[in-house]
Amino acid sequence: MKVLNIGSMNLDYVYRVDHIVQPGETISSQGMNIFLGGKGINQSIALAKAGAEVYHGGMIGEDGEAFLDACKEYGVHSRYICRIEGKTGHTIIQIDKEAQNCILLYGGANQKLTHEYVDGVLSHFQDGDILLLQNEVNDIAYMVDQAYEKGMQIALNPSPFDDRLREVNMDKISIFLLNEIEGGQITGLTDPEEIFEEMCHRFPKAKIVLTLGKDGAVYGEQGKRYEQPIFPVQAVDTTAAGDTFTGYFLAGLVEGMPIEKILEMSAKASSIAVTREGAVPSIPYRSEVQEALQQ
Ligand code: RIB
Repeated sequence: MKVLNIGSMNLDYVYRVDHIVQPGETISSQGMNIFLGGKGINQSIALAKAGAEVYHGGMIGEDGEAFLDACKEYGVHSRYICRIEGKTGHTIIQIDKEAQNCILLYGGANQKLTHEYVDGVLSHFQDGDILLLQNEVNDIAYMVDQAYEKGMQIALNPSPFDDRLREVNMDKISIFLLNEIEGGQITGLTDPEEIFEEMCHRFPKAKIVLTLGKDGAVYGEQGKRYEQPIFPVQAVDTTAAGDTFTGYFLAGLVEGMPIEKILEMSAKASSIAVTREGAVPSIPYRSEVQEALQQ
């Protein structure tokens, strides 16, 4: 079983601020860094660091060479990453004193996927393989339809949620990995428990992973339910915490680990990620996660 992730690659411009800038306000930042990020590549690197074999697809512009280097460094297959003219996606991220962030996204090359490109990449995958998607690239609905036709299992992290996701036939999704905000946007509900129940009811064949911030995560599959609390830590940067959880969760699933162990490993990995700056650089290796779990 192969894992293909067609997802975003962003250069994250990260600014440390006293507070998130308000409308009409100008403030000075206290520091700035450029990190590799993007939900797509963060999740591929988390999968690889967790020990899974993962193929990353997506587009970068002329300024995106560093993503190919990162794939090489972390063991992500990069042969389906396509270089095109123009700019790689980027973000402007503000992080305040409490480690809260806000993210402004510029799609760039991430929004240039074509049907021809998608068909070409999918032709290398088959029945039973996993396609992982987030919502930072274009044409998600098309990718879901094509992958489903091939009999692939589709894992969807519907983040960030927007109207384009309403075009996706969600009955074709095998694994949902979402937070309560995205769950609310899909179900129209606000109470986390009701969101979880409704997701399980609406998608009875799917695996549902609902992350609940400081309340941990809850997992459901065919009437079974598992809960996972967080590992409390002093956060410095929460960027990519969810991506780390997603990558580790899928890696555990591919490996055939018991669900309780997968959830515990994913929560621990994510708790380590928030103690470090940046997206890609914050994602821990499996050995670090295992060591931390033994302490
Ligand atoms: O999930 C974190 C990611 O979201 C960041 O790396 C940023 O690029 C945005 O896409």
